[in-house]
Amino acid sequence: MRIAISTGGGDAPGLNAVIRAAVLSAIGRGWEVIGIRKGFSGLLGEDQCVTLTRESVRGIAHLGGTILRTTNRGNPFHYPIRQPDGSFIEIDRSAELFENARTLGLDAVITIGGDGTLAIAQRLHECGMKIVGVPKTIDNDVSGTITSFGFDTAVNTALEAIDKLHTTAESHDRVIVLEVMGRHAGFIALHSGLAGTADVILIPEIPYDIRKVCEKITERDRSGRHFSIVVVAEGAFPRGGHESVIGGSLPGEAKRVGGVADTIAREIQAITSKETRSLVLGHLQRGGQPTGYDRLLATRFGGAAVRAIEDRRWGHMVALQSPHIVTIPIAQALSDAKRVDPNHDTVLTARATGISFGD
Ligand code: F6P
Repeated sequence: MRIAISTGGGDAPGLNAVIRAAVLSAIGRGWEVIGIRKGFSGLLGEDQCVTLTRESVRGIAHLGGTILRTTNRGNPFHYPIRQPDGSFIEIDRSAELFENARTLGLDAVITIGGDGTLAIAQRLHECGMKIVGVPKTIDNDVSGTITSFGFDTAVNTALEAIDKLHTTAESHDRVIVLEVMGRHAGFIALHSGLAGTADVILIPEIPYDIRKVCEKITERDRSGRHFSIVVVAEGAFPRGGHESVIGGSLPGEAKRVGGVADTIAREIQAITSKETRSLVLGHLQRGGQPTGYDRLLATRFGGAAVRAIEDRRWGHMVALQSPHIVTIPIAQALSDAKRVDPNHDTVLTARATGISFGD
């Protein structure tokens, strides 16, 4: 048996722990393992495929990033090709990918990625590839699994920032607006904001009204709390408005959102006259050592992915449905976008403890 592993989309703390567990579980069964570098691009001649041995995965479980590297522009069905004039066209290179997989003698593939990568995996499965998925998302926006590795680390990184911002905001009687990741889902903002006792949390699932945000800040000011912490997901948008998009994205790439914290900070200062600063936490949330929770979950996912291959569960992904790791069809996970439920207990408790959602 010869299997391959690839990591696609944005990186997330815990990818290396998945790779390590999958490689060791496969080698323990007497299988060979090939690492496809840079998403699926390694199967398209862009980068290489490498043999993964026990030595290749030694000492990597605690490291952020991915030893296989990754890309969010490697969709083989819409592969971006640069033209001599600098423009891009997209071509379907899936036949080439299948041919190269055959030449390498691959019996099965484990792909680790978010909704974009899993959608590619689903198409490859429909075209006949024996593929198993592992959900990866710091945003916690993949359905069918209670959570994925990377999310807990990202929340803790945001939490550390909120704790630090509290002390400086209080010292200066300032409002500080912290922008965290979360293009479509506000889980990082909600969890870090509630755990970090923010005063306002703004998420894409609950469009905000800037006047309500300012009411909360002014009310705190009047009661002697002269500082406020606002945590905003990058994809949050005002009622009747739209998300803030940063310039253009590269061909084949999703549009880049961001800049909402700066806009909100300017509005708060203009309306409340309180000195307001903003900060974008950005890719700090994607880097660094995975937390113990993420390392364990990633390791469990890696082992479960190999068992899924053994059980020939093609087109399935591993998922956490506590206390068990199960497998579900990738198509099922893709059929439903996972978002914060505004009636979830986390939101209700946040409201009950005085946090405003700007609505
Ligand atoms: O999907 C994960 C994510 O972290 C989003 O929250 C964020 O918008 C995006 O990745 C950033 O991606 P990139 O690194 O390509 O700018």
